[in-house]
Amino acid sequence: MRLENFEEFLRYWGKHYQQQASHISMFKDGFGRKLMDKQRMLFAAYFYHIRGHFIDFLWYMGNNAPSCNYKEIILSNIADEFSPNGRSHELLFLDFSDAVGIDLRNEYIEQKYNLELIKNYNTNHLKWLSRHQWPACFAAFSAYERLDNIDYFNLLKLVKEFELPKKNYIFFSVHSQVQHFDVTFEEIKKLWPKNKTSIIDGFTFIGEHQLRIWKSLSNLIENKVGINSLITTSEESTETLGH
Ligand SMILES: [Fe+2]
Repeated sequence: MRLENFEEFLRYWGKHYQQQASHISMFKDGFGRKLMDKQRMLFAAYFYHIRGHFIDFLWYMGNNAPSCNYKEIILSNIADEFSPNGRSHELLFLDFSDAVGIDLRNEYIEQKYNLELIKNYNTNHLKWLSRHQWPACFAAFSAYERLDNIDYFNLLKLVKEFELPKKNYIFFSVHSQVQHFDVTFEEIKKLWPKNKTSIIDGFTFIGEHQLRIWKSLSNLIENKVGINSLITTSEESTETLGH
């Protein structure tokens, strides 16, 4: 790895990340096809909280951004969540969860499926940011944006195996194609010469942290953790489907 060159570091980091991700059960071919309906619901419920609290990350970053340029990058990221001319990302995800058969319409308020381990995952992002200087924090943000394209490529492949009507995959396809990383890339290149170690720290933290939560999610689904507490879109489930 040539540390003097950010592009090479980035290529190495992305390749290493994808290699590690490919070993996780839920990213292997056929995983989605083998799941029972309630395991798909678990995926939707837990995924909602794994990705849905990124707003706290953005809020922290925006409040601590040292310049107008950085604040605008964060603000445009938040604006994209609302999709000014279309359905917000939140509503696109609810299209997916509805199609899977789980009612998450009040989940933002009720937090029924926000497991302790998912809460810790999200809190640990903020703790990490609070312990690091801006260049490392911005690198972590940039790494997270870079992973949108890698993670959602894997996630789209997984959910397509659910064989739902195409319109229910828009949430995943939008994220696999977003270009949020590009604007951060230009800033990181400027920071790189004087902040190599901090930038590597930020990318390494996000890569490892993300791989850990995907492994955990994969295990939760495989082991059907919480399956008895699922509320379906049609009725309250009273079925007993133990491990
Ligand atoms: Fe989004």
